[in-house]
Amino acid sequence: MPRLKLGVLISGRGSNLQALIASCADPSFPAEIVIVVSNKSDAKGLDHARAAGIATAVVEHGGYRNRESFDRAVHDVLVGEGAELVCLAGFMRLLSSWFVETWHDRIVNIHPSLLPSFKGIDAHAQAIAAGAKLSGCTVHIVRAEMDAGPILVQAAVPVLPGDDEDSLAARILTMEHKCYPLAVKLIAEGRVQIDGDTAIIDMPGDTDDHIISPSVR
Ligand code: GRF
Repeated sequence: MPRLKLGVLISGRGSNLQALIASCADPSFPAEIVIVVSNKSDAKGLDHARAAGIATAVVEHGGYRNRESFDRAVHDVLVGEGAELVCLAGFMRLLSSWFVETWHDRIVNIHPSLLPSFKGIDAHAQAIAAGAKLSGCTVHIVRAEMDAGPILVQAAVPVLPGDDEDSLAARILTMEHKCYPLAVKLIAEGRVQIDGDTAIIDMPGDTDDHIISPSVR
């Protein structure tokens, strides 16, 4: 079966990109990365892509007169490389409604909270400030509104006493690196059906495992 062709958009560190690269290195994984696009030329994630022999492109937003013209340049790169699914992996730019509609149901994002809680850039701080006992991460289909859209995969982690943003972010990031490849795999295997604002996942063998925080001993 042909592998689903991914275009990954990054702005920085690229640890989720690295998780996708590692998954795609397995020939049985049903997707491959055809292009990594960064809006920053010094994004560390570009090094991960180059080390893996993956094509990269830098499209610096400063050179464009508005959001849509930047997005059209990114779109042209993605189409030129044959991308079929756009994976936002720490891409720190809001996408225009033109781009989101053009790639309708074909853009996924990862966010470090259990959406719809704690949208925005300071998700970890919000979870701590709210006194949440669980937080986590969400992979979702992108809609025009920030951090919104059909939820594909979530993982929960405890928020522990004494956590600061860094310690919580590190705990969540470990799960991000599992959830993003899983979401891509589910899409590539045709197990995801989008029904308006929700996603129905065909996942035989799901369990009713649960997590309680603080844990019951
Ligand atoms: C991750 O926490 C992701 O959830 C958020 O931005 C961060 C990107 O990290 N959208 P990395 O660049 O993948 O390491």
